[in-house]
Amino acid sequence: MVKVSVLGASGQIGQPLSLLLKSSPLVTELRLYDVVHSVGVATDLDHIDTPAKVSGYLPNDNGLEKALSGAELVMIPAGVARKPGMTRDDLFTTNANVIADLLSEVAQLCPEAFICIITNPVNSTVPIAVEVLKKHGVFNPRRVFGVTTLDVVRASTFTAHALGELDPQKFKIPVVGGHSGATIIPLISQSQPPVQLTKEQLDAVTYRVQFGGDEIVKSKAGAGSATTCMAYAGFRFAQAIMKAYRGETGIVEPTYVFLPGVPGGEEISKSLGVSFFAVPVEFGTDGATKAQPVGPLSDYEQDLLKKAIQELRGNIVKGESHVKGGK
Ligand code: NAD
Ligand code: LMR
Repeated sequence: MVKVSVLGASGQIGQPLSLLLKSSPLVTELRLYDVVHSVGVATDLDHIDTPAKVSGYLPNDNGLEKALSGAELVMIPAGVARKPGMTRDDLFTTNANVIADLLSEVAQLCPEAFICIITNPVNSTVPIAVEVLKKHGVFNPRRVFGVTTLDVVRASTFTAHALGELDPQKFKIPVVGGHSGATIIPLISQSQPPVQLTKEQLDAVTYRVQFGGDEIVKSKAGAGSATTCMAYAGFRFAQAIMKAYRGETGIVEPTYVFLPGVPGGEEISKSLGVSFFAVPVEFGTDGATKAQPVGPLSDYEQDLLKKAIQELRGNIVKGESHVKGGK
């Protein structure tokens, strides 16, 4: 049974994510923190007849300390979201500081917690989180994750749609790399069960997985970015961690991690030439127990990989320098 904190709990992701966590029998305690409205959001959720005890905190009255002390799993969707015409990197200016400040508190109040970062740009916010945890001397690479599950969910969905299949969950498709445009690499050649797509279908599915975020931003026309599908994906990832923490075996989800610190990850990191990368990760009671190699790639996927690595390197350095440069 797990004590979960959600930072940014009043937001468009925070609220539905908190609802799903409140619905879960795996959660004993749910602490909601935000700079606005979190007490009301918690009161609302607390009327639901599931065991999880819900409490809400604001910055006053040591709210963050109360939300984080003793937390075992911290989900972070705090920060700003895209509007049409923006890239995820445009969010860096605001969200880099949000993540650095929150992680400094996490480092002091619940350094052992599993930390799941949803806030964009994930390619850079995770390196920021890692640098802050290192500064505090509490970085455990097996417990810090960039949440890329939405890309995995999209790969199954769009492949099923392309094939006219009813059940997207039938298709298990790893998605590796980062979480923005060209850094997202769906490995459709590794689909289980295998799928046969025409070149046009492959291009279309790959594009939709890489730019699915933009599709929603455009469709919402200024009202935000992916929220309910993200809450679904974030909960799926949280559930994977919680189930493994409770001793369930065989749990694997792709996630963006500091590869050299995860068993099996050092070799992958060396061969790719990047330190942070999303790969399928096996989970155990202590977090990430093994990073799985990206596996055999088609020529098409090799091309995607080359483009992804270049962009990703810049994103990683940008995040790391934000903390190292003391900005
Ligand atoms: P939102 O604006 O609706 O909610 C963000 C919440 O964070 C707000 O309630 C705000 O008050 C709160 N907040 C801001 N600064 C804070 C701080 N210092 N401490 C605590 N709370 C703070 O945005 P959203 O739609 O929920 O998106 C949140 C983030 O998630 C964005 O950065 C978005 O780009 C990202 N996102 C990531 C993925 C992914 O796949 N990883 C998917 C969708 C969205
Ligand atoms: C997504 O993939 O939908 C999210 O990262 C939100 C965004 O800004 O696109």
